[in-house]
Amino acid sequence: MDPLLPPSRPDAAPSPARLVVLVSGSGSNLQALLDAVAAAGPAVYGAEIVAVGADRDGIAGLDRAERAGLPTFVCKVKDHGDRAQWDAALTEATAAYAPDLVVSAGFMKILGKDFLARFGGRIVNTHPALLPSFPGAHGVRDALAYGVQVTGCTVHFVDEGVDTGPIIAQGVVEIRDEDDESALHERIKEVERTLLVEVVGRLARHGYRIEGRKVRIS
Ligand code: GAR
Repeated sequence: MDPLLPPSRPDAAPSPARLVVLVSGSGSNLQALLDAVAAAGPAVYGAEIVAVGADRDGIAGLDRAERAGLPTFVCKVKDHGDRAQWDAALTEATAAYAPDLVVSAGFMKILGKDFLARFGGRIVNTHPALLPSFPGAHGVRDALAYGVQVTGCTVHFVDEGVDTGPIIAQGVVEIRDEDDESALHERIKEVERTLLVEVVGRLARHGYRIEGRKVRIS
């Protein structure tokens, strides 16, 4: 067992898991989670969103959270002396909502040491490529430029690397000749939203263990 990734919620929880969702942009993955919780109800879905955090203001992701009546918080790097201080502030702001799981849904910052120390093994990220190919901030662009014929999305736990943590689930999307980055990303996001909703619900309802690189959902 990787000490950074202890088992958490190894048994099905009696109450809905508390989710904090982190966003940086349009928040369509956040919206998919909001819709899933609203449609099924927290008890049936297995989780509820208790807060939404961001690294910038003025984004549609925060508007979506506010429309849903959720508390929000913003932690900007430029408001802190350095990355480590920003990470400590983000950790405290997130911890205030006592999450069982943190979902990084289009959050475009690398989480630091404090955040991983507090929430390691409980941070789920979604990435728009089939990891370990095309990690980083431009997964869609990089896959197109490389000329692969299939790409997709990966939902994984976050470790100390960039998009290197244990993979929970992946979805495949074929690349079309006429694709540009934006068209391809939109098709990936359709698959990604469904996958993220399904994975987060399963983790929350059933509990899980991380054994090396394998994620075992109970
Ligand atoms: C998603 O495709 C997500 O995988 C990606 O940002 C998009 C956010 O969309 N994340 C990354 O590229 C992280 N490296 P959304 O704001 O509409 O949910």
